[in-house]
Amino acid sequence: MKALVINQFGGPERLQVSDYAMPSSKRRGVLIRVHAAGVNPVDYKIRNGSMKWITGRKFPRILGFDVAGTIEQADSGSKHKPGDRVFAMLPFTGGGYAEFVAVAEKYVYSIPKMISYEEAAATPLAALTAYQAFLKTNSLEAGKKVLINGASGGVGSFAVQIARAMGLEVTAVTSSKNVEFAAQLGAHRVIDYTREDFTKTGLRFDTVFDAVAKSSFPKCKGILNKNGQYITTVPNNGLFRHMPANFLRSKKASYILVKPSGGDLAIIADLIEKGQVKAVVEKTYPMDEGGAAHQLLESQRVRGKLVLVNTF
Ligand SMILES: NC(=O)c1ccc[n+]([C@@H]2O[C@H](COP(=O)([O-])OP(=O)(O)OC[C@H]3O[C@@H](n4cnc5c(N)ncnc54)[C@H](OP(=O)(O)O)[C@@H]3O)[C@@H](O)[C@H]2O)c1
Repeated sequence: MKALVINQFGGPERLQVSDYAMPSSKRRGVLIRVHAAGVNPVDYKIRNGSMKWITGRKFPRILGFDVAGTIEQADSGSKHKPGDRVFAMLPFTGGGYAEFVAVAEKYVYSIPKMISYEEAAATPLAALTAYQAFLKTNSLEAGKKVLINGASGGVGSFAVQIARAMGLEVTAVTSSKNVEFAAQLGAHRVIDYTREDFTKTGLRFDTVFDAVAKSSFPKCKGILNKNGQYITTVPNNGLFRHMPANFLRSKKASYILVKPSGGDLAIIADLIEKGQVKAVVEKTYPMDEGGAAHQLLESQRVRGKLVLVNTF
């Protein structure tokens, strides 16, 4: 099969189309013919080597954790059959930028009828991150107040919609150009961070979800209600220094590490079917132009998601 691979760490130009051994569903579960693959910041972080302490230096490597496509092969005992439309967040091995991927069935779910492969591929990793982050705060019942920093990005755009679906009162933080966008996603209030520091408005929140990890627990502590939680998507040493004291404080510092889960994806699919959640795809690229998609995503200015369409 054809795949977009890296043979060494480096810039977007390292993404090269190459022939690659066909994955086997025998070992891994179902074989998916990939119609579209979502692009996430973790992809360029692996590509440029900034995660090599986790990934190691094994090459060639196929990037990509989000796929949408059709079942090509499945066991007779599988709940999916050839031709079914499915999407998945792949486990840590990745491999989504390819014609085919094999994945355990427990990570796979049926694509809601009303959405395209591109929208489906844009969904799993980012939506699961937002959903699992809110699950961490089990006190987040309807009416509680949540602030979402980076509300226009991949994770943030899902977080706003999922928080609304959970009945939370949503305050979004974006730059000026995305204020209207965040309001359209369902935010009750939008703070433009180029005009106002969201930690100095006098407002208080039960959860601050720092979807873009541009703030910190010390900065946000003052705007948390009693028993409030700061959750970031990118933990750093500063956060790890504050976490051990969580049991001494009513206000908690924490982070989310998304896990692939067909069960959680089923909940997201249900929200999509009810019209409460929808992926926003800013741009699609043919898969062999994945480098251009990485370059744009690395600017950290993308609204919603970027998706690679399989043209191999
Ligand atoms: N731990 C996990 O499991 C996990 C899972 C998913 C993602 N992540 C990490 O989470 C981060 C965000 O992911 P993503 O997919 O949402 O990224 P993304 O789509 O690239 O985020 C882009 C958005 O960030 C916003 N932004 C940039 N600078 C900002 C600032 N100073 N304040 C507020 N917003 C700002 C931009 O909006 P404006 O143009 O309006 O500023 C843009 O819409 C990445 O570092 C990613 O690796 C971690």
